[in-house]
Amino acid sequence: MAVGRQLFSHTTQALVYYYKQLPIQNMLDFDFLCGRETPSVAAIINPAGAGGFHNLFFGQHQILIPLYSSAATSSKLALTQATIRIVAIIADGIPESDLMELIDYAKSNNKIVIGPATIGAIKAGAFKIGDTGGTIDNIIQFKLYRPGSIGFVSNSGGMANELYHMIARVTDGIHEGITIGGDAFPICMISDHVLRFNNIYQVKMIVVVVEAVQSLVEVLTSGKINKPVCVLWINNVRLFKSGDQFNISQGDESSCGQLEALKDAGAIVSSSYETFEVSIKQTFNKLTEEGKIVPIIKEVTPPQIPEDLTTAMKSGKVRVPTRIVSTISDERGVDVQYAGVPLCVMLEKGMGIGDVISLLWFKRSLPHYCTKFMEICIILCADHGPCVSGAHNSIVTSRAGKDLVSCLVSGLLTIGPRFGGAVDDAARYFKDAYDRNLSPYEFVEGMKKKGIRVPGIGHRIKRGDNRDKRVELLQQFGYTNFPSTKYMDYAVKVETYTLSKANNLVMNIDGAIATLFLDLLAGSGLFSKQEIDEIVSIGYLNGLFVLARSIGLIGHTLDQKRLKQPLYRHPWEDVLYACHVK
Ligand code: ACO
Ligand code: LMR
Repeated sequence: MAVGRQLFSHTTQALVYYYKQLPIQNMLDFDFLCGRETPSVAAIINPAGAGGFHNLFFGQHQILIPLYSSAATSSKLALTQATIRIVAIIADGIPESDLMELIDYAKSNNKIVIGPATIGAIKAGAFKIGDTGGTIDNIIQFKLYRPGSIGFVSNSGGMANELYHMIARVTDGIHEGITIGGDAFPICMISDHVLRFNNIYQVKMIVVVVEAVQSLVEVLTSGKINKPVCVLWINNVRLFKSGDQFNISQGDESSCGQLEALKDAGAIVSSSYETFEVSIKQTFNKLTEEGKIVPIIKEVTPPQIPEDLTTAMKSGKVRVPTRIVSTISDERGVDVQYAGVPLCVMLEKGMGIGDVISLLWFKRSLPHYCTKFMEICIILCADHGPCVSGAHNSIVTSRAGKDLVSCLVSGLLTIGPRFGGAVDDAARYFKDAYDRNLSPYEFVEGMKKKGIRVPGIGHRIKRGDNRDKRVELLQQFGYTNFPSTKYMDYAVKVETYTLSKANNLVMNIDGAIATLFLDLLAGSGLFSKQEIDEIVSIGYLNGLFVLARSIGLIGHTLDQKRLKQPLYRHPWEDVLYACHVK
């Protein structure tokens, strides 16, 4: 063991083997309390997982700690790393043969092993490894966020925290605390650390809780220890009035000789937990009176560790605005609810996709003629053959070998003002023209003057003498089922005017859906004027075409995948090469 060497400093960093969030966060919170500028955890070795980073707090800020899937895959391998001086083995139950090998290797390579079966070690105000010191509240209560004058070493981690508390009560606190671990074969002995503490200038007295005293007696009689050593020999004392709290067996008569040897070696030996506190206090006060310990004049106030939001919320200390507000569905219960209607109720009532749209888009149940109208729109717009731009893109993308979603999205991306995406604009312009009482002439010519094509009018192939059957089907449904079709009636008049100008200016499916939807909103009596204006302004209705045409685009994609057509390449004769045109 390196005699007289501080094990840790305020820049010491650890590699933590296996990712356990709480002890690692506890170490980082300790760093923050001590005012460290760099986190004490340099990396996490997680053999079971892949690389990457873990997101943890360093004070109020989040830091990313690198995760490595392989580094030192065992304590021994860790010891062979030149940059690793100390290995703390939290695990217990290590086979004796492996332990012997570790002990030999550590001693011959001047490495320090704490453990096995240790809860760790701490240099007050600088660095801690493992869970030693307990919670952050304990660490603050035991004043471990700044160094005192006491070197502490024990086998047991449970005793360590008790003693940190006791030492903080009756002295200026711990300088360094080590638990060598409760294993039968600790790799470093208590006596090693007593000797090391003796040669650390800042340590003025040593407190030891020990189970086997032999090696301690040896180091005390070696003449190398010149600082007071207060000892609590576990095997020989009654720990607590209420019986031993640490399940440690009481000593027997044969230990009396060892006890005498300990006293003869100069140890300040206590016979009970209570007298142990007294002897520590008396020893500390004596050193202070002798001027060997300079009392801490002004106690350091540690920074406040920000409380985790979850904890603070549970305690009611803080309230946090929600990041997302959803008013259409709630999946927290057993049964998902759409606008408050449980799925099971929807099935019991025989609701269809039109009802689902009513609930999730319009947040209310609509009468059957409304939901039926939406379902008809979906049926009529689901597909319009492989030649239209949407289907074309999905087909080409599929033949390029792309996945279903990419093919679908590729087709959907062609939906816009000139293909399938004119429903909302048609609703806006027709509603505005009707509400402002414009004649068809005023409306159409006004749009022409603005250079805007009347959305909902015109088609690549449909003509006045070859109308879009889908439009006629929607009109029939509206005329038969809607309380009012004033917007559609107006659109028909507009179409009459546009057809007088050109045969291709026929009402198209976008225009039919738009104006009948205006009739649905206005005629159902279920939407206020403000709501109707909002629906038209936000633009709900292109969604109906997108929803519908997704069915056809998926169909074309699947069709092409079945056909296994070669990569699509546009034929030269279909292209006008005009590279010479500047
Ligand atoms: N309003 C006014 N004039 C129009 C309109 C219209 N909606 N559509 C075409 N025209 C005029 C053009 O200005 C052009 O006149 P010009 O030669 O004096 O410039 C003439 O008609 C031919 O125009 P094209 O673009 O060649 O006609 P095309 O048949 O290619 O256009 C289209 C079809 C894209 C649908 C067009 O009518 C249009 O843009 N309409 C408005 C947007 C719309 O409703 N889109 C939805 C279509 S339906 C669907 O995709 C499911
Ligand atoms: C469609 O529904 O895709 C069509 O009306 C567009 C078109 O060009 O046929």
